Amino acid sequence: MSVKDFATILHPAIAVFYVFPLIGITTYYAWQARQRRLQAKEQGKSKIPSSAGPEHLKVGKWLSASVVGITLLGMAQPIIKKLVIDSQNWPANATRFFLIVGFFIATIASLVLLYRAKTPLWRGVFATLCGAGLVIIGFQNFQAGDGNFYPLVFRRDFEWQVSHFYYGLGAAMLMIFSLAIVPDIYKDRQHRWRKAHALLNVVALLLFIGQGFTGTRDLLEVPLSWQQPFVEQLYINNCQQQPCQVIVPENPEAPAE
Ligand code: HEM
Ligand code: HEM
Repeated sequence: MSVKDFATILHPAIAVFYVFPLIGITTYYAWQARQRRLQAKEQGKSKIPSSAGPEHLKVGKWLSASVVGITLLGMAQPIIKKLVIDSQNWPANATRFFLIVGFFIATIASLVLLYRAKTPLWRGVFATLCGAGLVIIGFQNFQAGDGNFYPLVFRRDFEWQVSHFYYGLGAAMLMIFSLAIVPDIYKDRQHRWRKAHALLNVVALLLFIGQGFTGTRDLLEVPLSWQQPFVEQLYINNCQQQPCQVIVPENPEAPAE
């Protein structure tokens, strides 16, 4: 497999073997933490160990960073490909590339500082900066060889309801928010933050399921390098909208029938 193809499947592979199992573990502990709290409230005791809540938080902290990380990786791949590897207009795009690298660094730094922030103000500031970094990177354009500007990251704006980009951005925002409100969940005796957290992360779970579907679909649409010239023809001829005849050039070395 070529380096280019390996780079294409790196993001889906890490999502499958690392991020999704982490989502499963976090959700398992979340359910246990909730059941334990409700049982203790109704019956005064519960067989579920008291470690369920802290374990959920521990794995949840890993999950937040992992989802932000996999989102950055998903965006880095097309950005490097379009701005550097396939660039037909490097002088026009060089400044943009280094600016975007700066945004990657700033976004990761904000996430690290969010983990360390103690006061509500700083948690709010770093959560906002981290989320804004993802949005700014996601909406960058580049100047192609024809002089026109195109989106760097494929957003599927023509079908935003089933867009891998918007679902992913939404899920990452919810993970950042979860991280930012941890002390509030514990402080609030009336459980308002806890309920808001549980409700919002049911939405996050639905978005993660959406990522499974849309990511798999996108993987079927992104060709390996040897398929690329043929698959590109399908898009150029708008074959997703109308019937097309595919003509594959004859291979002179193929054995005669
Ligand atoms: C798949 C994602 C997640 C889901 C579905 C989820 C869901 C839940 C649920 C249902 C509860 C229990 C609410 C109750 O007691 O009624 C909970 C508690 C909690 N969650 Fe999450 N959560 C997720 C991710 C996260 C993340 C990323 C963090 C932080 C980094 C986090 C931090 C917490 C904390 C601190 C509690 C309180 C635990 C305790 O009582 O000790 N969660 N979550
Ligand atoms: C938590 C889970 C995931 C998140 C947050 C996420 C996020 C993203 C983001 C933000 C992008 C860039 C926008 C785009 O090109 O659509 C992207 C690209 C992509 N993702 Fe995911 N993703 C996740 C899981 C998956 C899974 C499970 C698969 C497939 C099995 C997948 C396959 C892809 C593919 C094929 C691309 C296009 C890469 C390219 O342009 O070459 N993703 N992802």
